[in-house]
Amino acid sequence: MTMDIKKIDEQVNEFKNYTNQYINSADEKTVNGYKDKQAHSLFVMDEALLVDAIFTEYNESFKKLLALESLFHDIGRFEQLKVTGSFRDNELRDYYKNMDDHGDLGAIVIKEHGLLENLIPDVRLYDEEVMKVIKLHSKVNDDLLNGIMRDYILAFKNYDLKELFLSSKSEKEKDILTKVNTSIIQDVDRLDIFRKIVKGIWVPMVTEDRIDPELFELFKQGKLPSMNEIKAAGKWNANVGHLVRMSFINQMSLVPVLMKIRNENLIEKVYNASGNDIVKPAYEYAKEELERAIESSEDGIVVNKRR
Ligand SMILES: [Fe+2]
Repeated sequence: MTMDIKKIDEQVNEFKNYTNQYINSADEKTVNGYKDKQAHSLFVMDEALLVDAIFTEYNESFKKLLALESLFHDIGRFEQLKVTGSFRDNELRDYYKNMDDHGDLGAIVIKEHGLLENLIPDVRLYDEEVMKVIKLHSKVNDDLLNGIMRDYILAFKNYDLKELFLSSKSEKEKDILTKVNTSIIQDVDRLDIFRKIVKGIWVPMVTEDRIDPELFELFKQGKLPSMNEIKAAGKWNANVGHLVRMSFINQMSLVPVLMKIRNENLIEKVYNASGNDIVKPAYEYAKEELERAIESSEDGIVVNKRR
């Protein structure tokens, strides 16, 4: 049997080889940005594989695909920092045509730098899938998992990875795989932001700035605009940043990741590390929302978005 996707430790080597080039040639201003993204990517892969056990029961080929996608999900960040000097997605269009965010850039980078040829040596069967997940991970999608519920487990039980991509009858299952892997990466990505604040790796600024009441209403309805939109409307400040972070709870899809936030008391800890009286209502609301999300899940795996 040929190994279609390289072993996970070989993937990690490939990832480090590629990203170390950026770290080694970085200047003082950007070196920590590259290092942070390298550590973040490794964290997201480790956590994604823990969550994945629920879906694939460690089916080797599915696991290797998720490892690859999670490890490389932010691969566009390295080129982004080199070319634009920042991680601000809204500035990418000044440098590239038709590029919405670092996910779009990542899909191009992984192909153009020949990384897929090294990571998946024998076949080009999964290239499109990997690029699709990298592109999707940076886009907010309200109902990535809505409506599929239990189907995903069947999808993985009935196929092996290669069969899934070779069969003409498995479009629905392939779609489920894309959604599950993207959701795992997005949820874990958000978990990492909370953990970073708790560990003091990143501490949000403390200010006295008020939060626009209209924004708080939208936050409670789960309709908070994106950071860029809030900035464009001139309503951004450090305390609004708390609102954006607490809105992650609403955007998450997977109960196992939400359970980690609950079990590790991450909302309280993030509040203790960086909160203040102005942002307290947002934290209290996020805690209620966390409980609702966990309790309203029908299968204990996928969040019911209509809660
Ligand atoms: Fe990302």
